Amino acid sequence: MMNSRQEDSKDTNAEGKDSCSFDVLDHYRNIANKYDHFFKETHQGYIPILMKCLDLKPEHVVADIGSGTGAIAKDLFELSGLHNPIWCVDPSVEMQEVARQKKGVYPILKTAEEFFSNPQISENFDRVLATISAHHFVNPDAVYKGILRSLRPGGFYVQLNTVKVSLPSFKSLKTLSTQCFEREREISSPLLRKIGLNANLSQEEFSFSLGVKKSKLYERYRCRFISLLQHLSDDQIEEGISELDHEHYQNVKDDELINYECTMLVTKVEKVA
Ligand SMILES: C[S@@+](CC[C@H](N)C(=O)[O-])C[C@H]1O[C@@H](n2cnc3c(N)ncnc32)[C@H](O)[C@@H]1O
Repeated sequence: MMNSRQEDSKDTNAEGKDSCSFDVLDHYRNIANKYDHFFKETHQGYIPILMKCLDLKPEHVVADIGSGTGAIAKDLFELSGLHNPIWCVDPSVEMQEVARQKKGVYPILKTAEEFFSNPQISENFDRVLATISAHHFVNPDAVYKGILRSLRPGGFYVQLNTVKVSLPSFKSLKTLSTQCFEREREISSPLLRKIGLNANLSQEEFSFSLGVKKSKLYERYRCRFISLLQHLSDDQIEEGISELDHEHYQNVKDDELINYECTMLVTKVEKVA
């Protein structure tokens, strides 16, 4: 295993700010202990998509970039019978604290930028994945170059981005989500195409259905379960919840399920052998 600075959190904060001007690491510090609870249903939807697209073999060496609480790595490790734990690269101390308690996780406390700046990360991995984390890359150009360098010939990178959620949203969040989804769609494919000269790029959309109790839905908003909600004040969130309740959920009981659909854009880049 590589000699990482996985126990050292002091020098990982330099790139904690993203282009949206809130502190990304603060956000994940606050949400870490509830993250798995809030994302349980969503993660269950991601796993079949990832299993299909990653085509994992037990001998594969795998890295998960922006791996969060390691929930996805744990499931992939167990379902694929991987021989080696998944390298889970994430700069949040608190998310990594949750991750390190899971089987199949090898935590590396770094940003993607820091991890791939090491020239020794070269042709180490059969598969690299990034699930709803690529929007946090501060220097996507360098990260994508690093990812391609880190892949063994014939290996591939799989990135999942949310492009649509069929759940009704409140006005202030709707505008933010639309901008964010469009930005995610725009950024990565041209960049990967430009960088991946010796790579084949393909994109496909996958949808899955899920349900969440009304009480949990409102709790997710109040706790700002996604970083986008950092842009809204407590009052704006309360107003949004009242708007939703009035327009859609007045007759839904707190413990009743609200069903909806998520659409993910899967970008796959295969390094030519
Ligand atoms: C929305 S969470 C996704 C976690 C996990 N992949 C999942 O699907 O549940 C985004 C993660 O990206 C991490 N992150 C933020 N900036 C990053 C960077 N520059 N490089 C790598 N990861 C980063 C955050 O700490 C957070 O854990």
